[in-house]
Amino acid sequence: MNKTSTIQTYIASYADRVEAELSQALPQAWDVPDSLRESMNYSLMAGGKRLRPIFVLAACEALGGSEQAALPVALAIEMVHTYSLVHDDLPAMDNDDYRRGKLTNHKVYGEAMAILAGDALLTHAFYSITQVHKNHGIPAERALAITEELAVYAGASGMVGGQAADMLGEQGITKLEELQYIHLHKTSDLIVFSLRAGGHLALATDAQLEALTEYGNAIGLAFQIQDDILDIIGDEKKLGKPVKSDEKQQKVTYPYFIGLEASNQKVKELTNKAKEALIQANLTNPERLLQLADYLMQRDH
Ligand code: IPE
Ligand code: IPE
Ligand code: MG
Ligand code: MG
Ligand code: MG
Repeated sequence: MNKTSTIQTYIASYADRVEAELSQALPQAWDVPDSLRESMNYSLMAGGKRLRPIFVLAACEALGGSEQAALPVALAIEMVHTYSLVHDDLPAMDNDDYRRGKLTNHKVYGEAMAILAGDALLTHAFYSITQVHKNHGIPAERALAITEELAVYAGASGMVGGQAADMLGEQGITKLEELQYIHLHKTSDLIVFSLRAGGHLALATDAQLEALTEYGNAIGLAFQIQDDILDIIGDEKKLGKPVKSDEKQQKVTYPYFIGLEASNQKVKELTNKAKEALIQANLTNPERLLQLADYLMQRDH
């Protein structure tokens, strides 16, 4: 990609690329019940910032890897993220009616099909990852490392663990550390996975993977704090999802705990910490990741 384009153009152009591929992700030749296919595609193609795939592509690029080979992993993480949103919106969880500017999956297809679409998106993500070795010549041990890491970062000790703690903690959280645990797992872990996977695809060293992890943890935490801030002061039209959802569900959030101003300050601190970790790591091409950090700090959706 052109090195001088703005970060907005960079994001828009990778998001378009990812969307074009996502629409083909579930092979047409597969015999899938129509309503399951529709329900999966409804949420996958509903828009969204495509931030996690962009992190895969930008991390791979930061280390001089191949964009083409990174695409199946970029699609995989967007499938896992989309499944997590479909389930997050269910009546048994956050009970929200709008997502990405459209009715939530269960409002259109019913709860059973929404649960099953989520299940199938998660499973298909692992299928997509296998393609990096089969079709793009990424060494088998790196493809295996990516597979293992997706299971860990998305699973019981990762995103699902964070979501479980979020549900269990709704009314009872009294410590900031407990809230940080929830945010690091429900949100940072998929971002850390994306960055590390991009690193693996470009044959990163352990030290480089470590720097990407530090950057991801800090950016992920900042991202969720910003999400909690926008739940209070954001514009529903821009966000494409309801505001005040956290209050409705009596969630304990950073703004609830430390106030809006201190939360904004925390987002800034974490963004600087993330950038610092990358700068120390001497990657070949860290510029886009640095710009992404600043861009996210300013986001309004
Ligand atoms: C929403 O993620 C869920 C959180 C972890 C805060 P995004 O804000 O990335 O949602 P989309 O993909 O753009 O819809
Ligand atoms: C959800 O956090 C994180 C995951 C889906 C893993 P939120 O519940 O705050 O996300 P939104 O605000 O509904 O997007
Ligand atoms: Mg939630
Ligand atoms: Mg929610
Ligand atoms: Mg939220």
